[in-house]
This record gives sequence, structure tokens and C-alpha cells, in this order.
Amino acid sequence: MKIDFKWLIAEAKQARRHAYTPYSKYKVGAAVLAKSGKVYTGCNVENAAYPSGLCAERVAIFKAVSEGEREFVALAVVTSNLGSPCGACRQVISEFANDDAVIVLASTRGTRRKKFTMKQILPDRFGPSHLR
Ligand code: THU
Repeated sequence: MKIDFKWLIAEAKQARRHAYTPYSKYKVGAAVLAKSGKVYTGCNVENAAYPSGLCAERVAIFKAVSEGEREFVALAVVTSNLGSPCGACRQVISEFANDDAVIVLASTRGTRRKKFTMKQILPDRFGPSHLR
């Protein structure tokens, strides 16, 4: 599948505008491209009971999975400073992504980008195969 990263980043940037971050003020937007070709977006949603909040990446992925998706080929994350997915998000992404799925980080100004594969951001991952 030919991936339009520019478009995926634009979707993540748009989602970031809805970030609910009264506590950290750190806004994150995510857009995940499913194998079906559909894109699902998410933003971080914080909570006064801090641990109850959720990262943008997991919001996007859980939205997609709850709509029936099971495999992702790319994920774009937009922050002010190229923030990278946290460990918990990496694990959740990995559940539904092959080693060669692409994670692209972009800054809000669009001037800086970083690209990784799933395997690069979570090598030697624990996955469904370990439970067979
Ligand atoms: N955050 C994300 O949305 N994604 C990450 O992978 C890292 C952190 C959010 C959680 C919290 O709302 C804020 O950034 C500061 O940690």
C-alpha cells in the first residue's frame, strides 16, 4: 500500500487540536492508517485523577479496533517537539502492527520529522505468539 504520510500527519495535526490537557498542557495528536485504508484519529485526554487519562496513540488505536480494525500499517504522531510514543503505547501499537509498520513523528510546524519501523521502536517485543 502506498502511504501518504503528508496526509496522515495532517490528520494527526487536526486531531491534536482536540487534545484535552489542562494539567500537562502537552498536546498530542495521532492518526493511524488501518490495512483497510481507513484512518482513525485520536488526541490525549487527561483527567483530574491523573492516571485515568489516555495517550493520543491509544485513543486512536482503540477507536479503530472498536470499529472492527485489526491491523495497522502506519501511525503519525504530532507534538510540538517530536515527542515519541511512550512504552505503553508502543506495546499497544505492536499488538496490531507488523515489524515493518511505520511510525512517523512530526512537529506542529511541520519542519521536523522522524520515521521508525515498529521493530525499531519496540525490538524483541512480547506479543500474541508468546501466549499460544
Ligand atoms: N502523551 C501522549 O498522548 N502520548 C505519548 O506517547 C506520550 C504522552 C500524553 C499523555 C499526557 O496527556 C501528556 O502527553 C503528558 O505526558
